[in-house]
Amino acid sequence: MEYKKEFANVLTEFIEETIPYEKIMMMIEIPKHDSLGDFAFPCFELAKYYRKSPQVIAKELAGEIASTLFEKVEAVGSYVNVFLDKKTVASQTINEVMNKRELFGDATNGKDQTITIDFSSPNIAKPFSMGHLRSTVIGNALALVAEKNGYQVVRINHLGDWGTQFGKLIVAYQKWGSEKKVKESPIRELLTLYVKFHEEAEYDPRLNELGRRAFKNLEDGDDEATHLWIWFRDESLKEFRKIYDLLGISFDSYDGEAFYNDKMDKIVEILKDKKLLIESDGAQVVELEGFPPSLITKQDGTTLYTTRDLAAAIYRRENYQFTKSLYVVGNEQTLHFKQLFQVLEKMGFEWQKGMVHVPFGMILKDGKKMSTRKGKVILLEEVIQEAIRLALNNIEEKNPRLENKEEIAKQVGVGAIVFHDLKNYRLNDIEFSLEAMLRFEGETGPYVQYTHARASSLLRKGCFTLSEVDKVKFADQEAWPIIKILINFPQTITKALEEYDPSQIAKFLLDLSKAFNKYYASVKILDEAHKVERLSLVLSVKTVLKEGLRLLGIQAPEEM
Ligand code: ARG
Repeated sequence: MEYKKEFANVLTEFIEETIPYEKIMMMIEIPKHDSLGDFAFPCFELAKYYRKSPQVIAKELAGEIASTLFEKVEAVGSYVNVFLDKKTVASQTINEVMNKRELFGDATNGKDQTITIDFSSPNIAKPFSMGHLRSTVIGNALALVAEKNGYQVVRINHLGDWGTQFGKLIVAYQKWGSEKKVKESPIRELLTLYVKFHEEAEYDPRLNELGRRAFKNLEDGDDEATHLWIWFRDESLKEFRKIYDLLGISFDSYDGEAFYNDKMDKIVEILKDKKLLIESDGAQVVELEGFPPSLITKQDGTTLYTTRDLAAAIYRRENYQFTKSLYVVGNEQTLHFKQLFQVLEKMGFEWQKGMVHVPFGMILKDGKKMSTRKGKVILLEEVIQEAIRLALNNIEEKNPRLENKEEIAKQVGVGAIVFHDLKNYRLNDIEFSLEAMLRFEGETGPYVQYTHARASSLLRKGCFTLSEVDKVKFADQEAWPIIKILINFPQTITKALEEYDPSQIAKFLLDLSKAFNKYYASVKILDEAHKVERLSLVLSVKTVLKEGLRLLGIQAPEEM
């Protein structure tokens, strides 16, 4: 139940003719201190209507308000403060969670609507970067949260598999490449070739021209170029899939930039028809307001990243009829998306209003951006494997008799990495630190997983079954901080989607874990006299922790 709404309902009975319900909802505050109650309503506005001081109005209102949900209603200065009835609210909350189980917090705001989420989208023949990891975990969490809000979700991996760089790579391979080496370690070898190309091109600029020509050949469907390109793409995809498998992530579409190669003429046609294309030095551009012009085709007629994104947007709208379309891409591409959305607006596509760039900060190494050009990269798969290895060590040390050690180590290692990213507000830059990523104590994924395992273990020890309880009467005062957090789960889920911010769920899970562990330390949960009541609370906490972790893309082992 949403208690703020209940309070607003009660208030409406007295003041609706002066302040409407929606406004009341917005005015209700949550006091900083528990001693001031759970909600507070300021009476300053009402003073105007009733021509009395806000203090007098607060006193009168407090005297009139009554509900079984409130154990106390009090006027404090110009505010009406209400205290929720702890027993009633606790019992209602626990019964609600136990009835709904993992469906607790499900919302319907996305009903009958489709949302496309473009995320991960790495570039082939290059290592999967930390930036792509951010996009992958944030995008995956948003997809899961959108589903929980009732949306139909289409997960799209817009692979970077087209562009001048593939011309360069083809030239580099033809000059210095070895088939054997590429087969052995594709990404490493292709990266080495790419780096060599740039080094050599510094001294021999003609190479760049060769690269451009090779890409032109590729766009025109030349056999050898196409053959090499397909091979590079397949090898890269194999490597990427290893990472997605480890993370437990899948996509509905891998249609990347190349997929739009044959859909480009149509875009150019529409732009011409609408008289939006302007020639500039042999290239075709669309002029924009407030931003530099958007480049549509180059002098040699080849297309660009933006052109392919235009084609992709239109294709997605036609194919999926989305109402919302998200792009989870680093904030260094903010200008690109502003330009893209404005071109679509100029083309007259109303639906572009549903498109949103969801940017995130960079991962820095010693305060600086990591660059693949120079070959300085950290291979993500190795980072994940290292996390899993550390998790396994931890298990061997603390719980050597555990079954399925390997599987649980995988869940914990991956959980550590994913949570480390998602607990930060996405726009903040993060300093890359393997050590911090793999830490299992403090505000980490494994800490939340551990709390979940602790709750599961209590339920096993207490032999708790749901059928024991019909309706729990809950009277445990010490559990109130936990209840207050649980109540906020549904709101946290809608807000996390509205603000495209999974960190709100991560923070919620940390708060819930801390409150539960405090309770665990101070209350004898398995004490016979209170066992059923307390284990119902434990089950509620376990259910919500597990569901919250799931929404972040993290598993919750029963034991660890
Ligand atoms: N491949 C791009 C990169 O790594 C990201 C693509 C994002 N999606 C898009 N539709 N532009 O920078």
